[in-house]
Amino acid sequence: MGGTTPVEALTEAGAAAELARLATAIARADAAYHGADAPEISDAEYDALKRRNAAIEARFPALILPDSPSGRVGAAPAEGFAEVVHALPMLSLGNAFEVGEVAEFDARLRRFLGLGEAEAPLAYTAEPKIDGLSLSLRYEAGLLVQAATRGDGSRGENVTANARTIADIPSRLAAAPAVLEVRGEVYMRHGDFAALNARQAAAGGKTFANPRNAAAGSLRQLDAAVTRARPLRFFAWGWGEASEPLAATQAAAMARLAGLGFPVNPLLRRVLGPEALIEVWAAIEAQRATLGYDIDGVVYKLDDLALQGRLGARAATPRWALAHKFPAETAWTRLEAIDITVGRTGALSPVARLMPVTVGGVVVSNATLHNEDYIAGRNAKGEPIREGRDIRVGDWVQVYRAGDVIPKVADVDLARRPAGAEPFRFPLVCPECGAQAVREPGDSVRRCTGGLICPAQAVERLKHFVSRGAFDIEGLGAKSVEEFRALGWIAEPADIFTLEARHGAALAARDGWGERSAANLFAAIAARRRIPLQRLIFALGIRHVGEVAAKVLARHYGSWPAFEAAMTAAEVGRGPAWEELTAIDQVGTVLAGAVVTAFRQPAERAAIDRLAAQLDVLPASRPQAAAASPVAGKTIVFTGTLEKMTRAEAKARAEALGAKVAGSVSARTDLVVAGPGAGSKAQKAAELGVQVIDEAAWLALAGGG
Ligand code: IVH
Repeated sequence: MGGTTPVEALTEAGAAAELARLATAIARADAAYHGADAPEISDAEYDALKRRNAAIEARFPALILPDSPSGRVGAAPAEGFAEVVHALPMLSLGNAFEVGEVAEFDARLRRFLGLGEAEAPLAYTAEPKIDGLSLSLRYEAGLLVQAATRGDGSRGENVTANARTIADIPSRLAAAPAVLEVRGEVYMRHGDFAALNARQAAAGGKTFANPRNAAAGSLRQLDAAVTRARPLRFFAWGWGEASEPLAATQAAAMARLAGLGFPVNPLLRRVLGPEALIEVWAAIEAQRATLGYDIDGVVYKLDDLALQGRLGARAATPRWALAHKFPAETAWTRLEAIDITVGRTGALSPVARLMPVTVGGVVVSNATLHNEDYIAGRNAKGEPIREGRDIRVGDWVQVYRAGDVIPKVADVDLARRPAGAEPFRFPLVCPECGAQAVREPGDSVRRCTGGLICPAQAVERLKHFVSRGAFDIEGLGAKSVEEFRALGWIAEPADIFTLEARHGAALAARDGWGERSAANLFAAIAARRRIPLQRLIFALGIRHVGEVAAKVLARHYGSWPAFEAAMTAAEVGRGPAWEELTAIDQVGTVLAGAVVTAFRQPAERAAIDRLAAQLDVLPASRPQAAAASPVAGKTIVFTGTLEKMTRAEAKARAEALGAKVAGSVSARTDLVVAGPGAGSKAQKAAELGVQVIDEAAWLALAGGG
């Protein structure tokens, strides 16, 4: 299907023709997939079209079509970076903070792989976790053609021009696979960071809080000449798409990357079993202060790549890797006040205002106090924590922070408590709207009952709505949301899409905005009228529905009309729609209850309907490899003992093939895989006339063994 000229080699005329061709091909594939017809091309081919389109748009922003399939609008390329769709998602890592969790990790992998205690220990690599920002470098025919930030894991920013200025990153590879994506961390060394800040200060410019921020700020520069002047470094830690396997093991693949000219961390080791991992971890921690760059832990990866493949990934993290963090850094300071903030679900959160103190190189003046029980010195069960010591304004408190997470107040020094300090009285009404704040039985959090009439909840919901994993509207961040709300221009999400019609002229005339910014904002809003189902579900801001749950729901129901109809039909605790919802793997009754309740509340439901009326919701994307698989879209239940693979592996395999795995048999089950000892589930399947197969037949279907 043509289009084989490397993007780098395209002329402007060639690029324009290519973009037109790609737009037609993608529109056609969309129609075939979204309509009732069978898909005409595979997911992989479809992704390749989208990626090529994005790569050409990144190189020729002026040629972006008004109805570009990337959903981007033409013109205004200077407003930000073009978007890149990652060929394979950029996953993040599961964390461990305790030494004991390392043995659990190893045991978990052994269980998943069905290894007995007598079998040999597993081999792992261990290497420092660099505290920088990740970057994916795409090489085609040995040439660097694209560099992208992680972004939300599936879509990042195109920073190719900037990456080319980093000396550690080769622009050309000898003897590389035809397609190779090398992934790693961009970081800044301590000495370079200090010198940069000194230069910035001398020039009256902005200084950076830490090397990580400096690296991020330097890479995400619209002018590559600025990036060039910044001392950025790179360590490779892995790879994404590769047209041929790099090696059979993680260690050998990393050696291969080193051979291709990528910096690989010199502390990387290959060892056997969890005890040896902990030894490497301790040895790296002992050197931490003298490395000259920030690391925040050690990353363990299963060495055997075939076993990595069998283990696969959960929603956002691979099962075969673990980040073992270093202990948090701590400091003591005075608690000056306790403020209560109100979140989007009405939760009243106590925030400690602190006398500023440096914790692990970062100045901290706010920290979380979690909830009222935590302040009072007890846990959710009413048992004492900190030996029952409560926390009072005026106290000296210990603050700790680990990695990027919000600093926490850990402890209090009673010996330094000022005379007359009073126990903290947690408010019983919402400080923002005055409505009652209540705690439901079993909930550790006190919540405002004001709902949408509470200004704090309304603003937080709007901020959530425009946030990264949700609508992610360029130019509409938390600050603008607050501004528009204060003006009375927007009260709920639907209002964002009618803003131009109602206040377009006023915004263009407004201080700090102007015609061009207003036009860009409205273009960005218009571009988001077409929105993937999972983003919409996440954006609704329903309690317990994070990005992962939103994706699970979107994949299950497929389209907005189907999802909306199912939620309208559902009643908490009973009926077929409720059963279908709670039978979805990863959907528990708490989550299900929150979704159904949101759709049943008249005010909330009306706001959802007003929003949906403004949108063109794209159906959920198919799970990878689904098209070719005979079990794609089927609901499978495993029961009894499997002999060739563990239950966990069977489930992961089925999901990778696009099937849904449910825990119980119902009329909606398509297939039951029954091993020896299968009991009531196999029986129920027989009663319902659901097909039951044995493990051998399952392996034949799943194409493995
Ligand atoms: S492996 C699928 N190795 O940490 C494997 N990540 O918390 C994904 N990082 O997004 C990552 N040093 O940006 C890996 N040696 C290392 C790393 C590393 C730093 C970052 C990376 C990732 C994040 C996850």
